Amino acid sequence: MQELEWIWVNGKLVRWQEAKTHVLTHALHYGTAVFEGIRCYKTSQGPAVFRLDEHIRRLFDSAHIIRMCLPYAQEEVKKATLSVIRANNVEECYIRPLAFRGYGEMGVDPTRCEVDFVIAVWCWGAYMGEKALREGVRAKISSYARSYINSSSPRAKTSANYLNSALAKMEAKELGYDEAILLDVNGFVAEGSGENIFYVKNGILYTPHPYSILLGITRDSVIRIAKNLGLEVQETLVTRDDLYLADEAFFTGTAAEITPIVEIDGRTVGTGKPGEVTRRLQEVFFRVVRGEEPGYERWLSYVKEV
Ligand SMILES: Cc1ncc(COP(=O)(O)O)c(C=O)c1O
Repeated sequence: MQELEWIWVNGKLVRWQEAKTHVLTHALHYGTAVFEGIRCYKTSQGPAVFRLDEHIRRLFDSAHIIRMCLPYAQEEVKKATLSVIRANNVEECYIRPLAFRGYGEMGVDPTRCEVDFVIAVWCWGAYMGEKALREGVRAKISSYARSYINSSSPRAKTSANYLNSALAKMEAKELGYDEAILLDVNGFVAEGSGENIFYVKNGILYTPHPYSILLGITRDSVIRIAKNLGLEVQETLVTRDDLYLADEAFFTGTAAEITPIVEIDGRTVGTGKPGEVTRRLQEVFFRVVRGEEPGYERWLSYVKEV
């Protein structure tokens, strides 16, 4: 990881190397943390954060689900996010706000541990590589099921939920694939280890219903862009066979952006190359995030001080 200069820690900018925590931090032992992944893109008017308000809203929603009271208001987190990007003087970056139960008491009950809040930024190119964005990835249906809605709230972006993702990702990579696709406990397609999933069949765009997944902000952006392009979009139950027989498929996520899927479990998806609808959505998406597509300006928060 390439280090930058500053990390925002509990209200102050702290030198990168000095942003440390105690080994008995509650979240380190029990996963009691919520976080976000946000991207800031270079635009003609300087760096701009994509859908910052929605990401901060989701961070607060995740905290609410796990009964964690965040020590800042949403507007303060927004200002802090923009300030840490400015301090590090970067044109493009990935942004990671993290609120975690800190040092205090040991034991599963986190309520006596203070909440610490950090915001770090770093330069992060294409999540699965530029080639993946251009040529697509090979995915494997995981042997791990997505966390059940009544066990660990997949809708909350908690650190604890990412053990499930990490197990699925490691398994997929060990088997020679790029990414995992997790089914829910009922056997329907849920999402990737760090992405939502879409497929195209006969010109219609399908994506799993919102129950067993993280409600992705890229997912929402793609649904809106697709509808604005005149495509029909259905949020529905999806089976692995739907994916095997799809004309096109792709992952969406802040890190993964729009990554085509060209093979699932050894079966080619469509022609085995990124499809036309996927390409079109990628093109428009990358113009939107760079402020080049009229009508989507409200999704950008400019970093420069006005
Ligand atoms: C499990 C999971 N699903 C979906 C997503 C996509 O969400 P978003 O588009 O908001 O980044 C992510 C990424 O954060 C994720 O980790």
